[in-house]
Amino acid sequence: MAAWALAPSAGRAAWVLETPSQPAGPYYAPFRPLSIDNDLVFIPGGDGPAKGTLLHLSGRVLDQWGRPIPEARVEIWQANSHGRYNHPRHADSRIPLDPNFQGFGHDATDGDGSYSFRTVKPGPYADNPGWTRPPHIHFAVFPPKGPTWTTQMYFAGEALNDDDFLLNGISDG
Ligand SMILES: [Fe+2]
Repeated sequence: MAAWALAPSAGRAAWVLETPSQPAGPYYAPFRPLSIDNDLVFIPGGDGPAKGTLLHLSGRVLDQWGRPIPEARVEIWQANSHGRYNHPRHADSRIPLDPNFQGFGHDATDGDGSYSFRTVKPGPYADNPGWTRPPHIHFAVFPPKGPTWTTQMYFAGEALNDDDFLLNGISDG
């Protein structure tokens, strides 16, 4: 994953490649998850791990000069491996829930800006007729100072990437 950076102030040169911002979307966690940590694969009291391909996800939060941002809260939320969000707005979906998948997690960056999560690869889902979203993971970064920043992570090589207008709306190659 490319270096993360919050948007630089106008007139300042960016020294690192900025991760493009992407919208948070309609499925941000609406209720307190059963467990709140950076391991989305196991829920206390569950009867096993979440279904799907295990994914170890890590990166660093850097400012526009490439300096680490410690103590930033990093949240992720995503569909399960079938392509279903555990969210009321996705409740009419015919795609099954996974009772062992947390769906939402958070971590705090350490001194070098690092964060990590354990999760599963999300499935694609039909957002509306004619548009199926490719697998993606939503991120929100809450730095100790400054505004909340959101983006989405995609998976290279997914055929659905080619037609996703949010992904292809990023002008920076
Ligand atoms: Fe989404």
